[in-house]
Amino acid sequence: MVFIYHRLFRPRIYDYEMIPRFVRNLIYKAKNRFIPAIPVNKEPSAPHMQTAYPGPKMNNLLNDLEMSSQDYLNTQAFVQHEKSFGNFFVDCDENTYVDFYTNIGSLPLGYNHPKLKELAASDEYCMSFINRLDVNHYYTPQMKELIEKTIKQMTPKKLSQVIFTCGCGSSANELAVKIAMLRRGNSEGRNNMQNIRTVDLTGLSEGSGLSVLSFRNGFHGRIGGSLTLTRSKPIQKIGVPHFDWPMAPFPVLKHPLKDNLAYNNAEEARCLEEIEAVMKKNPNICALIVEPVQAEGGDYWGTPAFFRKLRNLAKENNVTFIVDEVQTGMSTGRMWAHELWDLETPPDVVTFAKKFQVSGLFIHKDLITKNLSTEFCGDNCFDLFRLNNLSKILNVVEKENLFQKSEKATENFKKAFKEEFARFPIYSNIRGRGNFVAFDMQNSRERDAFVRFSRKNGVFITGCGESAVRLRPTLIVENKHYQFLQNVIGEFPRSKDYKDLAKH
Ligand SMILES: Cc1ncc(COP(=O)(O)O)c(C=O)c1O
Repeated sequence: MVFIYHRLFRPRIYDYEMIPRFVRNLIYKAKNRFIPAIPVNKEPSAPHMQTAYPGPKMNNLLNDLEMSSQDYLNTQAFVQHEKSFGNFFVDCDENTYVDFYTNIGSLPLGYNHPKLKELAASDEYCMSFINRLDVNHYYTPQMKELIEKTIKQMTPKKLSQVIFTCGCGSSANELAVKIAMLRRGNSEGRNNMQNIRTVDLTGLSEGSGLSVLSFRNGFHGRIGGSLTLTRSKPIQKIGVPHFDWPMAPFPVLKHPLKDNLAYNNAEEARCLEEIEAVMKKNPNICALIVEPVQAEGGDYWGTPAFFRKLRNLAKENNVTFIVDEVQTGMSTGRMWAHELWDLETPPDVVTFAKKFQVSGLFIHKDLITKNLSTEFCGDNCFDLFRLNNLSKILNVVEKENLFQKSEKATENFKKAFKEEFARFPIYSNIRGRGNFVAFDMQNSRERDAFVRFSRKNGVFITGCGESAVRLRPTLIVENKHYQFLQNVIGEFPRSKDYKDLAKH
C-alpha cells in the first residue's frame, strides 16, 4: 500500500508522465475524494503534483479569464489561498508547490502567517479595512501612531521623511521623479509663487525640459514616466509614447566577482565613463534612478565601489539620486540593499513596495518643498490595513531574526550549487546576497525549459532577463525548502525535457 501510495499519489520526478492521462484523471479524482486536504496551519512535507502543469482546471480557468480580462496574459498560477501555507501554495488542480517566486517576492512571511491572520481578525483591522481614507485630508490617530512606529524600524539612514503612494512600485517612482523635478526648479529659483501666473495649464511650464536618466536593463514600472524609465523589454514599451529621456549602460559583471576582477573593473569603468558623458551632454537631467540589482532585467548587480562613484557623479552634477528598492527592499539580508554600498552621502530618495505591502518613498529633508504640490494623488493614496500588515511583518522579522536566518539558508544553497552543479555547463554565474539570488543558463530556451520542468515537479520558479533563473523566496525559507530546488536543478540536465531541447 505504502509503495502504491508513493508511486501514484506522490510520484517522483519522471514517474508521473509515464502514467496515461485517463489513469491520471482517475487517480486525481480518487485522491480528491479520499485524501483529506492539507491542513492550513502546517506546511506539507514536500511539494506534490496531481496533474501536469498547468493542470486541466487551470487551463479552463485561463480560457475563461481570457474572455473577461486582459490580465490573463501573465497568469501562471491559480492559487487556493485556503489550502496554502508558509512556503507552499496549492493550485486549483490540487498541485502543491514550494514557492520560490512568492508573488514577486511580496510575501515575506509566506502564505497565511498565523500572526497576520490573528491581526486580520481584530476589530481595529476590520475598521481600517472597511473605511476608505482620503489621506490627503483625513488621518486617524491610529494611522499617525502606526506610521511613527513603523518608519522607526525601516527608515534608511539619514533620510527622514516618508510619503506613501498607491501600493505599487510604479507610483512610488513617479512621485520620486516629480519631487526631483521640483527640487531642480527650486534650486534654480523657478518654483516660486510669483511665477504661478506663468505656469501654462497645458502642462508646459518652465521645467518641461527636465529629464531623468535611467539604465539599460532597468525596470521601474509600466505607467507614463515610470515606463519611460523602464529599459528591460521592448514589448513593455511598444505603442506607448514616452518621454525622450536619456539612458546609460549598467555593468554586466561575471561571477564569482573575485575570480573576474580585471574584467569587472573594466566593465564598471566603461559604464561610469559613459554615464558621465551622458550627464555632461544633457544638463537637463535632474535625477537618475537606479536599482541596486536590476531585478527584472536579469539580476545584474553592481559593486559597492560602482555605486559610490555613481552617487558622487550625481552629487557633482546636481542630479537627485533615486534608489529604486521596490524589489530589493527587505530581500538582501537587510532592510535596504543600498546599505551594502557604504555611501558617504546617502541617497536622496529611496522607493519601496512589494515586501513592504504599502508603497512609497523616503526622502532627505532637503527635498521637502513647502507650498508646492508634492502629493501623489488626490485622495485615496494607500491602504491603512496594509500599513497594519507591514507593522506586524516588521515585528515578526525583527523578533525572529528572519533576515539572518533566511540569508543563512540561501548561503547554504549557494554553496551546494557551487559544489554540485558548477560542473554542469548549463548553469553559471550564481550570484546574490540575502535571499536575492539568481543563476544563468546558456540561453532563453534552456532557461524556459528549466522553469517548466521545475513547475512540473512542484517547484514554482521564474526567470528574468534573457536567460537568468531568479529566486525570490520568503524570509521564512529554510534548507529543507532549498532541497526541493536542488533536486530539480540536479535532475534537469538528465531529464527528457532537456534532451528534447537538443532535438528541435
Ligand atoms: C525594481 C522595480 N521597480 C518598480 C517596479 C514596479 O512596481 P509595480 O509593478 O508594483 O508598479 C518593479 C516591479 O516589478 C520593480 O521590480
